[in-house]
Amino acid sequence: MKKGSIVEGIEIVDIGAKGKVIGKKEGQTFMTSGAVPGDVVSIQIKKSKKNYKEGRLKSIEQHSAERIDPVCDHFEHCGGCSWQNLNYPKQIELKERGVLQQMRRIGGIEDLKHLPILGSDETFHYRNKMEFTFVSERYLTPEELSSPEIKKTPALGFHVPGRFDWVLHVNNCHLQNDVHNTLRNFIYEEALNAGISFYHPRNQVGTMRNVVLRNNRPGQWMVLMIIKERTDETDVLCKKMVDRFPEIESFWVIVNNKMNDSFSDCPAELFYGEPHIIERFNRPDDQGSVDYIIGPKSFFQTNSNQAEKLYEIVYNWAGIQPTDTVYDLYTGAGTIALFVAKLAKKVVGVEYVPEAIEDAFKNAQLNAIENCSFYAGDMKDVLTPAFIEENGKPEVLITDPPRAGMHNDVIDRILEAKPKRIVYVSCDPSTQARDIALMKDKYKVVQIQPVDMFPHTSHVENVALLELT
Ligand SMILES: C[S@@+](CC[C@H](N)C(=O)[O-])C[C@H]1O[C@@H](n2cnc3c(N)ncnc32)[C@H](O)[C@@H]1O
Repeated sequence: MKKGSIVEGIEIVDIGAKGKVIGKKEGQTFMTSGAVPGDVVSIQIKKSKKNYKEGRLKSIEQHSAERIDPVCDHFEHCGGCSWQNLNYPKQIELKERGVLQQMRRIGGIEDLKHLPILGSDETFHYRNKMEFTFVSERYLTPEELSSPEIKKTPALGFHVPGRFDWVLHVNNCHLQNDVHNTLRNFIYEEALNAGISFYHPRNQVGTMRNVVLRNNRPGQWMVLMIIKERTDETDVLCKKMVDRFPEIESFWVIVNNKMNDSFSDCPAELFYGEPHIIERFNRPDDQGSVDYIIGPKSFFQTNSNQAEKLYEIVYNWAGIQPTDTVYDLYTGAGTIALFVAKLAKKVVGVEYVPEAIEDAFKNAQLNAIENCSFYAGDMKDVLTPAFIEENGKPEVLITDPPRAGMHNDVIDRILEAKPKRIVYVSCDPSTQARDIALMKDKYKVVQIQPVDMFPHTSHVENVALLELT
């Protein structure tokens, strides 16, 4: 099959990695983007691999019954919610199926007990944090480019996938509470009216760079205004926002005069209000609650309702006894450690980012929890035999690594420490399945449960309970 040739009548049967879809025709496999399972499509071949052909979607010949109209006006160009054109029950069915396939194929686990995927009650407005970028010239869609009267006006919105310098202007995003649209559109209009320049990423000039909006469930907001330089005009703009929106509890200004957009290493100055907002998670069965401090740079799970349910699963599955030592690996701001602490003799949390560990200590103090200790450093360097000797062998180990999964040295240390139970939380079930396979001589998988933290995206979280055999 030659590059450039058109293949018609391909039935889309599944979702693949990175938002791509898998199609079948006459026993051959095809990959493309922009279609949903059940569509029949034609594609133009771009790549011919041994096991599949990949191509650009040319047309949808027959529409899938699972297709729905996307709610968002920006759907076609934004790339943030690539599954918005698929009904929600089908989205979670595909996510669940994907997790089970990975557990079987990569993890080699047969006879897997799995609980049904925990879907999200809210499929919109579920995020508690969004970041937007200012640019002096907005991204123009191919249709707009062909129209000479459309101008490259300044924008505040999202990066077009894969482009650091193209920003799609956003009027209305459905992922965070609607207040965020009012806040963002206000900043945009007021900055323009005040004549404050927007950043030009190639020329590296312009004042306004990014804005981050965070909220807690009671409705308090934190604003992080990231600017190239602080001036009287930017202060007036920040003051206008604070005066106009009483729901702003905390307002930070961050000066970033580096070439890249990352501001984690730039100092933050408190412009107004409290240094943080607080989110409260309830433990199951009326076992009290935990308050978490959210500072300007704190890591916190971005879907609070689903994160609370995820922590409940960990709490219920870990089977912690009052005499147990528990390890919480990749603890972030100590959130899971503090959630389960009242069940255990003690909890030991380990995390790479020192500022997150500072937050973990603050969170422990805020909740008057005294049986947790936290350590900062790379897991493979911290979790040594000497560390385990000093802190005690864990009876229960909770692990929630980043997408890459756990380092082989970390897995070796766990196998040596032999906790009775492991609760493995993962945001990438393929690396989770790989890690589980490396532990299969000593641990059996008791059960798994996928959790949907990010409706309308291909991402899925999975919790696995492992027991020492
Ligand atoms: C998926 S998050 C989990 C955070 C936490 N359990 C929670 O629920 O908020 C993964 C965490 O692992 C940390 N991390 C990434 N690589 C690490 C490493 N090599 N050593 C220790 N921690 C690491 C990240 O900084 C992040 O906080």
